[in-house]
Amino acid sequence: MKRILILHGPNLNLTGEREPDVYGYTTLNDIDTRLAGLARERGVEVTCLQSNHEGQLIDMLHEARTWASGALLNAGALAHYSYALRDAVAAVAYPVIEVHLSLPAARETFRSISVVAPACRALVSGFGWRSYMLALWGLLDLLEDS
Ligand code: DQA
Repeated sequence: MKRILILHGPNLNLTGEREPDVYGYTTLNDIDTRLAGLARERGVEVTCLQSNHEGQLIDMLHEARTWASGALLNAGALAHYSYALRDAVAAVAYPVIEVHLSLPAARETFRSISVVAPACRALVSGFGWRSYMLALWGLLDLLEDS
């Protein structure tokens, strides 16, 4: 069975509680549960991990080389400046989809750049928790094509 890595970066553990007007009231646990439900319907498995630490996120991307068919990555603010994370995405062979709950390009100027995006296969943002669902749907379709 295909396994998909779902990787949530800094501060996303507080989703549902922090800035709900921006990120919504749905908790990270709810998002992971919904992703697992969609995965089940599509006959795949998801492994959902969260870390507030850049190095740990990089380690998780590396470790998934042995088992992941693809990944969703919400790098949080690291998306805007972490070249190390971008290099990690570029280093793995499996496709990575960048995900954001909000639409960073419509917010503060520093959010308008994603340094991770050029290493990703696609980007889904602005749909709240649904960004993850749309991204998983799209990733699985891409994997079926390949
Ligand atoms: C975010 C957008 C980032 O700019 C921000 O730093 C986050 C969350 C999102 O999902 O909308 O932590 O990645």
